[in-house]
Amino acid sequence: MTSFPDTISLASGYGNFTTPPAALQQATTLLQGGPLPLSPIEGLPALRAALAARYQRQGAAVAPEQIVVTPGAKPALLAVLKALLSPGHDEVLLLTPNWFGFQGLVEKAGGTLRTLPLDPATDYALDVAAVQAALTPRTRVLLLSNPNNPTGRVYHRAELAALLHLTRQHPQLMVLADEIYDGICFGPDRVPSLLEFDDPLSQHVVVSGFSKSLALIGWSVGYLVAPAAVARQCAAWQFATAAAVSAVSQAAALAATEQAESISAGLCAGLRANRERMVAALAAMPSVRQQLPQGTYYVFPDFRAFLNPALPLPAASADLAARLRAGGVEVVDGASCDAPGFFRISYAVPEPELREALRRLTAALPLR
Ligand SMILES: Cc1ncc(COP(=O)(O)O)c(C=O)c1O
Repeated sequence: MTSFPDTISLASGYGNFTTPPAALQQATTLLQGGPLPLSPIEGLPALRAALAARYQRQGAAVAPEQIVVTPGAKPALLAVLKALLSPGHDEVLLLTPNWFGFQGLVEKAGGTLRTLPLDPATDYALDVAAVQAALTPRTRVLLLSNPNNPTGRVYHRAELAALLHLTRQHPQLMVLADEIYDGICFGPDRVPSLLEFDDPLSQHVVVSGFSKSLALIGWSVGYLVAPAAVARQCAAWQFATAAAVSAVSQAAALAATEQAESISAGLCAGLRANRERMVAALAAMPSVRQQLPQGTYYVFPDFRAFLNPALPLPAASADLAARLRAGGVEVVDGASCDAPGFFRISYAVPEPELREALRRLTAALPLR
């Protein structure tokens, strides 16, 4: 009989993917080929050119000079926020629910975080009128993730275009899209990049990485794409505070970029059965509302029916997370993403673990 750990984690942000063979091969060849080259601070020219070419194939006018390779997406986000924000003055408007990491990054960059909750009842539609009402003269950055972590929602072309119609009327405003999950998408259409839209006022910035959609977990590579002047500032920040990403990791990233479509398609194919299992398990739970997310390897069900009504909302959410943990399953409390009572649950784990975790989850929830 298979034995499982006392606690099965469905809380990790990283999947159980192995390094794509082409990436491993390219990194190994470099390692075995003599002294390692040192990368320029902004990244190896070949990787920046390959990334730019990939966006160009999608119809985006991106030049290599706009790209800075960073040790993961987080440092890219911090560099961008540092470059854009006037500390103590500027605000970042974050559409929520959203990834719990953004808050700390905005704080470290000296910005003030403001949140705009989107409505689960509309499947988190971009509410342009609400965004407009939330903007102030101090709002310097509008921050979103697409596909969204934690909801899995994918924002398609028409919905983004309506939002960008608004942001173009606010020249001081930058739009920052975290697109790190862009290859994990189960819908018929691929996830559009913010970079594919007209940007007459140079307002668009994208941050991405290789650890989610391209399976380079533990290789610590990410990047940003920004107007060239902002990219230069970000490179200067990286020069002053860190180092260039190892050429070994960049070699792996270059191979992954060249095979991006097939790597992501392989990951999605491998995730599909788990996704169906997860969605079926949630659908079988009475009182649980869950929209079928098109992107990421998360679901974000509404467990508000199971909260202890005697507790205030965030405490009730933490209490349910603790009850689930006591029942042997670790999930992410949506309170950390500005959505108490919702829970981020990953299905990018081995199938037997997922099966057992779902059994435990069902047993731990007071289903009626
Ligand atoms: C939306 C989002 N952005 C950025 C990151 C950080 O990515 P990286 O591993 O490249 O630092 C994560 C990781 O969980 C994430 O979910």
